[in-house]
Amino acid sequence: MLQKKEVYLFANWKMYLDHEESVVLARTLNENQKNFPPHVNMAIFPSALSFTDVSSELDTNSAIKIGAQNIYWVEKGGYTGEISAQMYQKVGASYALVGHSERRHIFHETNHEIREKIKNALEIGLTPVICVGETERERNDNLTDDVLEIQLRACLEGVAWNDSIRLFIAYEPVWAIGTGVSCDSVEVERVHQIIKEIANNILPNCDPILLYGGSVRAENVVSFLNQENVHGVLVGKISTSFEQWQEVIKKVS
Ligand code: PGA
Repeated sequence: MLQKKEVYLFANWKMYLDHEESVVLARTLNENQKNFPPHVNMAIFPSALSFTDVSSELDTNSAIKIGAQNIYWVEKGGYTGEISAQMYQKVGASYALVGHSERRHIFHETNHEIREKIKNALEIGLTPVICVGETERERNDNLTDDVLEIQLRACLEGVAWNDSIRLFIAYEPVWAIGTGVSCDSVEVERVHQIIKEIANNILPNCDPILLYGGSVRAENVVSFLNQENVHGVLVGKISTSFEQWQEVIKKVS
């Protein structure tokens, strides 16, 4: 059973759904949101293609927020294929994922680029959800804490932050994403404490909201959320099926 606290359930739809599937899922979520418990803060991250139509499916003032899977840090210009944070913000984005491991590893996104995205998001008032995490090899070499410190310092040091925006940091061990093998919840709590300490050290009193991501499902979601420093979860695959997502929400109710 979940100890009652405010929780964040963030659904990263990645590239799992085509346009029509995205719109249908958004419509279903919108119709069912009255049944979602009030202590659940939900956000969905559809593809860029479907962003505006998904957004239109949500009631004005819907409790379900919407976010971008990726942003570019220049407002407008000759950047083929990119979409800026400002453009997303104008069509209703509240959040932006930044530095997801699939962007880091498949698309070779660097800490420098991630930092530019965070700076830009903060400047315009879009909440960045900063993703960090170690690879399997780094974990086996006992490098988890070092890797997180390097990623967080590279992304946050010298960034102008003020307390009008609460930072979100998602701990997503690369080896746990989409593999069906999640990180042990006690280890997640240990890592979250470290992330909190590092983040507060870099940006004093930023007190980030900490999410865990990596093979979260109905059977294990409560074990994470019962940890003191786990404020929510970032969920991929499971969140793209209404039935499975509903099971996750039920466990949290
Ligand atoms: P997963 O993905 O839930 O499919 O493991 C999590 C994520 O990448 O955010």
